[in-house]
Amino acid sequence: MKQVLIALLVTGALYSLPVQSTEVANIENVNNGGVASLRGITELDTTRKADPMKRVEKDRSPIDRDYVYQPPLIPHQTRHYEVSLNANKCLSCHSWKYAGEMGATKISVTHYQSREGQVLSDVSPRRYFCLQCHVTQADAAPLVENEFKRVDSLR
Ligand code: HEC
Ligand code: HEC
Repeated sequence: MKQVLIALLVTGALYSLPVQSTEVANIENVNNGGVASLRGITELDTTRKADPMKRVEKDRSPIDRDYVYQPPLIPHQTRHYEVSLNANKCLSCHSWKYAGEMGATKISVTHYQSREGQVLSDVSPRRYFCLQCHVTQADAAPLVENEFKRVDSLR
């Protein structure tokens, strides 16, 4: 019995050897080469402390658009607004059914179109996760320089 156990332990050790060496090799490859990215110069295998959450601007009137077909920016807070399989808080104000009563902008017809341009009877699945395209605003310094200028027709 003892011999069997020892044999098992030895084979176990042999099997685990190659695994260990690849792990070491991987760690040696982790090196940002002194290049700073948006997450700073932290090495790739290090978890950097998260930045403090930015304060989203207070509710205000709609924000002017910078180009035609821009997804409008969200001029209000969205904290705790659930968008899941069971509920879509955004649609409880912005859907065609509730927008009038809630004083919110209706989602546009494009939000009812399928990928092939077919008009559906309810919001298209590809427009369900509103925050994929519409974003709240915070008073923060830009992360990268940006010289984008509003199109002439909207200036
Ligand atoms: C309690 C109701 C309510 C909820 C919930 C709500 N909104 Fe709004 N939203 C409004 C109102 C009211 C306005 C401003 C309409 C106005 O003043 O013309 C607005 C404005 C907007 C605008 C700007 C529209 C434009 O034409 O500039 C966007 C985009 C928007 N909301 C997206 C969202 C998203 C995304 C969610 C979910 C995360 C959401 N809203 C949840 C009421 C709501
Ligand atoms: C894939 C990107 C995308 C998603 C997802 C999306 N939108 Fe939009 N939304 C846009 C774009 C682009 C526009 C402007 C062009 C247009 O009207 O289609 C827009 C326009 C709007 C407008 C302004 C309509 C108007 O008549 O001025 C509202 C309000 C809005 N979206 C709300 C929502 C809500 C609420 C959701 C989630 C249910 C949502 N959107 C999901 C891209 C998106």
